[in-house]
Amino acid sequence: MNAPTKTPSLFHLLDPEVLADPYPLYARLRAETPVLWDPYLHAWVVTRYADVVEVLTTFSANRTPTPDKLVELGMENLTPLARIMVAQMLFLDRPAHGRVRRLAAVAFTPRRIEELAAHIQGITDSLVDAVAGRGHMDVMAELANPLPAIVTAEMLGVPTSDHEMLKKWSTDFAEMLGNFQHNPGRTAQVLRSVDEMTCYFRDAIRAQAAHPTDGLVNALTNAEIDGDRLTEDEVVANVIVTMVGGQETTTNLIGNGLLTLLRHPAALQQLRADPTLMPSAVEELLRFESPSQHTARLAPRDTSIAGRPIEKGQAVIAVMGAANRDPDRFPDPNRVDLCRSDNRHLAFGWAAHFCFGAPLARMEAAAAFAAVLSRLPDLSLVPEPLVWRPNLGLRGLQAMRVRWSV
Ligand code: HEM
Repeated sequence: MNAPTKTPSLFHLLDPEVLADPYPLYARLRAETPVLWDPYLHAWVVTRYADVVEVLTTFSANRTPTPDKLVELGMENLTPLARIMVAQMLFLDRPAHGRVRRLAAVAFTPRRIEELAAHIQGITDSLVDAVAGRGHMDVMAELANPLPAIVTAEMLGVPTSDHEMLKKWSTDFAEMLGNFQHNPGRTAQVLRSVDEMTCYFRDAIRAQAAHPTDGLVNALTNAEIDGDRLTEDEVVANVIVTMVGGQETTTNLIGNGLLTLLRHPAALQQLRADPTLMPSAVEELLRFESPSQHTARLAPRDTSIAGRPIEKGQAVIAVMGAANRDPDRFPDPNRVDLCRSDNRHLAFGWAAHFCFGAPLARMEAAAAFAAVLSRLPDLSLVPEPLVWRPNLGLRGLQAMRVRWSV
């Protein structure tokens, strides 16, 4: 348990002990200071379900500094990153957000998701086949990392042989998205990745104009509503947010979900015995160890949340990971209940920015859990300390070694 005497701040997530189990900190914040001015982060931190919903519904998503602002702040080296982020749907408000999201929805149809579904099972089976006879594996390195990376390449319509490169770029980009403070020592590498992936997707757009492939790169380039289309810069920016959004998080859902099942053997047994529970199990695992723990918004005007005054332009961190354990919303929230009804968790966000890839993420996780549970008997964790990745927003393990009988 974490020492309750510490000054309340989300910054304590940097402490490995808190990172391993942030829920006592969240419980304390929800109970004592549900709308907290966090002096270390210079932002409000909101942890109750109702308040997180309010922030995600009514506050501004337009929170990334513009290239001009960065120059003003003497951080012009980061402008290539900002140029991409300002065009990504994740950081747009109405009406610009609706325009990009509608064009993206034209490109990412239910039919396309169904086509990917057929491949997901095959990719999962081949990854599990490769280790089944060995009796042990690192879930992260051998399943949770490669599965979303390969599916993402298919989704984009680029060669699946490039999946390791896509993974590396996504990890670098996610480092900037998921952390309160980026590591200046890593900036050069992150900027190199931004440059490489921008060139890669520009080349892909041009190559696919001559030889179209099924996939989001080509579909976004050609998506059209009443004569309106995305510019090449907008296509590149939104291919990148989809690629990044689709990997780190899905990797962590697979890893965190399997860890939760292994830590709750009765639930694991229940799911093994009744695979029809899978859809509600995936929702409960998303709620219980949310891969995306928090996101941020700006106050659109002087306002208040739960009686605390918030000034226009102040940042608010909405902690979905805490809201998903709020006892006022979820009875017995620290219990894993694979049959939980009324489970409208916030792991995929809420309202206009609700995750664009949720159906795909759910399918990948269900395929991974089903393959592992049905193929690897007596699965258990190798008894050794678990190391959580130091990305504070995107919660996931560095490695997770498991073993089973062969
Ligand atoms: C378990 C896996 C996933 C989790 C937990 C997750 C979580 C989220 C969350 C919390 C948001 C909202 C962020 C905010 O409001 O600030 C979001 C948005 C988004 N996600 Fe996901 N995501 C997952 C998988 C995916 C996949 C597979 C894709 C790609 C196909 C994807 C693409 C996106 C995009 C493009 C947005 C921005 C939507 C918008 O701004 O309108 N995500 N995701």
